Amino acid sequence: MSRVAVIGAGYVGLTTAACLADLGNDVIVVDTNREKVAQLLRNHVPFYEPGLSELVERNTKAKRLTFTTSYEEAVPGAEYAIIAVSTPEGEGGEADLSFVESAAGSIADWMDGPLVVVNKSTVPPLTGDMVSRVIGQRNAKHKADVVSNPEFLREGSAIQDFMHPDRVVIGGHDRGAAEKVAKLYEPLQAHILITPNIYTAEMVKYASNAFLAARISFINEIARICERVDADAKLVAEGMGLDKRIGPSYLDVGIGYGGSCFPKDVKALAALAERFDYHPELLNAVMDINRDQRMLVIDKLRDCLEELDEKVVGLLGLAF
Ligand SMILES: NC(=O)c1ccc[n+]([C@@H]2O[C@H](COP(=O)([O-])OP(=O)(O)OC[C@H]3O[C@@H](n4cnc5c(N)ncnc54)[C@H](O)[C@@H]3O)[C@@H](O)[C@H]2O)c1
Repeated sequence: MSRVAVIGAGYVGLTTAACLADLGNDVIVVDTNREKVAQLLRNHVPFYEPGLSELVERNTKAKRLTFTTSYEEAVPGAEYAIIAVSTPEGEGGEADLSFVESAAGSIADWMDGPLVVVNKSTVPPLTGDMVSRVIGQRNAKHKADVVSNPEFLREGSAIQDFMHPDRVVIGGHDRGAAEKVAKLYEPLQAHILITPNIYTAEMVKYASNAFLAARISFINEIARICERVDADAKLVAEGMGLDKRIGPSYLDVGIGYGGSCFPKDVKALAALAERFDYHPELLNAVMDINRDQRMLVIDKLRDCLEELDEKVVGLLGLAF
């Protein structure tokens, strides 16, 4: 079993850490948020995710999982350092990589031997090279192989998604390092796709999220056409989804996509394309339709209620 340092105790970091510990690894999680770490040390998971509290408690008790705010405690002796810090929307829609960069610097400061650095945060292609550069500049003594291993879990079914993934994507310039990361997932018996260059793995995540967002904008556009010709959009979606080539998921007509990932990831992919002189027409349309879809709800409410001032609105289903 391996010693793993997980950087970041958010949805992705904590789920990854608890699941890898449950698979028998020795896992230490480092997060710069003192309050979060204090809560975790008291066995309190600071957000709601079904089954996660029990998994954290079981593995903490078994001494396979621990938490700290100190890289000095987490990194020395680790075989893997898994970066799972936030990559929020930055200026101009590009991904803000400052947390990733800072995590890479701190890993470099404390690594005391060869290390496989696994990037699980959602980042644009070329970020792995930046992580390698930062580590190389700050620690010339030890070798770090950087590998991309994007995460596809969904909030609300994070543990199930981690333990039973449709696929695990791993990409690195160094095949041996990518295969070492694949070993962590061996017990899951999942389909593992190793891409021989790191940029491909980084891109799979953005392409997947953009495609799912595109399906949502597509069905919302179809719904608007349906309204005009008196067709039932929900049944149209059902009829489409029964086609094996299409499938039923992400074809729900509604107020558009939201949450912590799709909006920022589609924007970041579009910004990346522009940076490389490509005008992403489809991605822009996906975002435009999504923005307008919210206004459609307001228009519909106006149609029903005429005046919206001082009306009390009940909302059903605010979380996952
Ligand atoms: N939430 C999801 O459903 C999901 C799914 C797949 C991928 N992702 C991606 O995974 C990444 C993490 O997402 P999340 O939802 O877990 O984020 P999060 O905001 O819940 O957690 C990030 C954690 O990282 C910590 N952190 C920030 N900088 C740090 C540093 N330098 N050192 C140590 N800790 C640091 C923060 O304190 C926070 O606890 C993002 O790139 C996100 O896009 C998220």
